[in-house]
Amino acid sequence: MVTMITVLRLGHRLGRDARISTHVGLVARAFGAQKIIYSGDKDEKMMNSIKNVTKEWGGPFSVVYQKNWKNVIKNFSGVKVHLTMYGIPIQEIKSEIRRKRNILVIVGGEKVPSEVYHVVDYNVAITNQPHSEVAALAVFLHKYFSGKELEKKFKGAKLKIIPQEKGKKVEEVRK
Ligand SMILES: C[S@@+](CC[C@H](N)C(=O)[O-])C[C@H]1O[C@@H](n2cnc3c(N)ncnc32)[C@H](O)[C@@H]1O
Repeated sequence: MVTMITVLRLGHRLGRDARISTHVGLVARAFGAQKIIYSGDKDEKMMNSIKNVTKEWGGPFSVVYQKNWKNVIKNFSGVKVHLTMYGIPIQEIKSEIRRKRNILVIVGGEKVPSEVYHVVDYNVAITNQPHSEVAALAVFLHKYFSGKELEKKFKGAKLKIIPQEKGKKVEEVRK
């Protein structure tokens, strides 16, 4: 069965969250998710920056906006995982979650409504210390894929990096 990871980023605020929400999207794409849904304020510019990265560096990865996060969670047919410092440590629950193939990974922003904790299947902590949605998402995906996401091949890329010990080498991909 195909693995499908969708990330839901709650509570985006125009201006204030542009950089961190962009980073949530970049991490989602680079670490193996196929889709990100932004809720909160609609921010075409921020979403376009992720779409442009996908055009250049490959996918598949889709970026969508949904105003109503409650409907996103309610209508999602797979397993809903909320990343929160108050949850069950990832190391205690990862083998159970790894068996699931269609996952909605929810990350918060400034304030997460308390309802979220009750409508999900799992509240998962990446340490029980406060840090960041970007770091929490990266570590969750790394644990979920057991590191295999580091070797992911991206389709339809225009650009490709040729790894160097020193310096930078980028090649255009011939179609
Ligand atoms: C900067 S935190 C703010 C959380 C906010 N104080 C609240 O109401 O929960 C933003 C997001 O980062 C993620 N996060 C931060 N620390 C985490 C941790 N230790 N484990 C899992 N996720 C974490 C959560 O998704 C959280 O909603």
